Amino acid sequence: MSEQWHSVGLAHELAEDAPIEFRADGLNVGVFKLGEDLYAIENVCPHAYALLTQGFIDGDTVECPLHEAVFHIPTGKCLKEPGGRDLKMYAVRLAGEEIQIKVE
Ligand code: FES
Repeated sequence: MSEQWHSVGLAHELAEDAPIEFRADGLNVGVFKLGEDLYAIENVCPHAYALLTQGFIDGDTVECPLHEAVFHIPTGKCLKEPGGRDLKMYAVRLAGEEIQIKVE
């Protein structure tokens, strides 16, 4: 897939406690809002299969809903096992009202 920006939703649809899930071409990306900042991270927990957009957000971390691995949203870093590894990050930007992520 060539590198391109995909629209994932509108800024007013994204809330700190309601991340957006974006799926395309086998990808699943979670877009999170922390304060005024947006972050796009791999959405499927690397441990087994659970969606981090359905996890529990606490400050700048998200806890996997299945076995409680914890990830740092701004960096994707795995802070608590059994996450297994850090998450992939994706570039995210606002184009007017539209939230876009860059997929390579
Ligand atoms: S699936 Fe996320 S910790 Fe097990």
